Amino acid sequence: MLDLAVQDSQILEGVRDHQRVWMSHRDVVSAPPPGFRIVATTPTCETGAIEDPVRRIYAVQFHPEVVHTTEGVRILRNFVFHICGCTEDWDASQRIALIHDLIRERAGERKVFFFVSGGVDSTVAFSLCLEALGSERVRGVYVDTGLMREGETDFIRQNFASLGLVQVEDCAEEFLSALEHVRDPEVKRHIIGEQFVRIQERIIERVGLLSGRWILGQGTIYPDTIESGGTARAATIKTHHNRVPGIQKLMDAGLIVEPLADFYKDEVRAIGREIGIAPQLLERHPFPGPGLAIRCLCADADHPVTSTTDGYLLPVRSVGVQGDSRSYAPVLAIDAFPSQASRLQDEATELVNRSAGVNRVIARVTAREPLSRQHVFASELTHGRIALLRESDFIVREMIRESGFDKEVWQFPVVLIPVGYGESRDSVVLRPIQSVDGMTADSVAMPDDLLHAMANRLMAIPEIAGVYYDLTHKPPGTIEWE
Ligand code: XMP
Repeated sequence: MLDLAVQDSQILEGVRDHQRVWMSHRDVVSAPPPGFRIVATTPTCETGAIEDPVRRIYAVQFHPEVVHTTEGVRILRNFVFHICGCTEDWDASQRIALIHDLIRERAGERKVFFFVSGGVDSTVAFSLCLEALGSERVRGVYVDTGLMREGETDFIRQNFASLGLVQVEDCAEEFLSALEHVRDPEVKRHIIGEQFVRIQERIIERVGLLSGRWILGQGTIYPDTIESGGTARAATIKTHHNRVPGIQKLMDAGLIVEPLADFYKDEVRAIGREIGIAPQLLERHPFPGPGLAIRCLCADADHPVTSTTDGYLLPVRSVGVQGDSRSYAPVLAIDAFPSQASRLQDEATELVNRSAGVNRVIARVTAREPLSRQHVFASELTHGRIALLRESDFIVREMIRESGFDKEVWQFPVVLIPVGYGESRDSVVLRPIQSVDGMTADSVAMPDDLLHAMANRLMAIPEIAGVYYDLTHKPPGTIEWE
């Protein structure tokens, strides 16, 4: 909660006293520098916001840009319009003309080649290039990595390949054999990124796209850039596959166009609507480029779970974001009834903050054996485990579509963890979240009857030992598990 310390702050003008703000830091400014005064405080941070009215320098210790900061937009508006004196003349249609210009300028006489994923971002980016350059100058390939969801390649064929602009390239075996025996999450991401680049290079050469007549188009959006450390100030938060060294080289050589690199997801959808992209394409939940691989956790060795005062520690490596960096840590599992989910979601943040060694908290929905008897099993990214995750994901997606729950969430990752007992060596984690831009997210409670029906269907798969529910908001947990 942010409490105002003065009544005449410029940066906090019109902000009501005692407002919720979002912080994710372990460091604080203990005393303001000369010339600054403290204009707001929080119970844990004396210098919540400071300003130097003479030199007109303003600083906040919290994140005004995230939706969880109730009056964040007002604070940003104060800065941009009142303090800097900018005028408000932005609208999506104006931006589209500018994006077209950017594409034309970057492309020059060249054509643009895309690796489309079928997701919202690459679809909108591809369509913008088509509009800007015409259908003779834009082509694409969809790489089937073998890490996609059930039905995905058919979806691409129906929506893109039928237009003759996109070809489907089957690379499943290549990806899966490169990932065989890999267990480390970051190594996994890098291998996928490098594999993408290798395949891209091969395709570009095969179709004769080198020789300066083509550049590469990408659907990178702003959060991808911030979270992978692509901005000047950001730390390495996410090692994104659009930012692996191979791509970076093309970027440095000016051979990449990213028409959406300045936009958040909600803006990308607004632009997509504006240029007439079909709603069923725009409303698809985001799906990460590295696909099911980063939702299929692996472990180096067998290990029993450890009992703690708060629950059971599962020694898997799941990612979380604290402060400005990604860190991998074990998961805390608690034995709880899912109907208590909304209360537990608030507790989950406290539990993570309290226990420095964990990134997220999950609740048992159902399991063949009690939590105390569960084990983490040594496991790799095998065909079988990917197929198991794909089947579980298909069940969940079918049920949320039929019940309409898919409209109530922004994204619903389904994660496979190598936790189980006896012959059933994997469990499913449900991760429904609500978000505006993916930068922060809330774990969302599901209707009990839907949850139970879903758990029953998942437990009908013999390899599945249990179903868990991720209660963690972002921060401190990330949306994906790796
Ligand atoms: P996190 O897990 O960082 O996710 O909270 C935020 C959003 O980004 C998506 N995501 C990715 N998308 N490649 C992608 O194309 C990736 O490597 C990647 N990792 C996370 C995630 O699904 C969520 O929407």
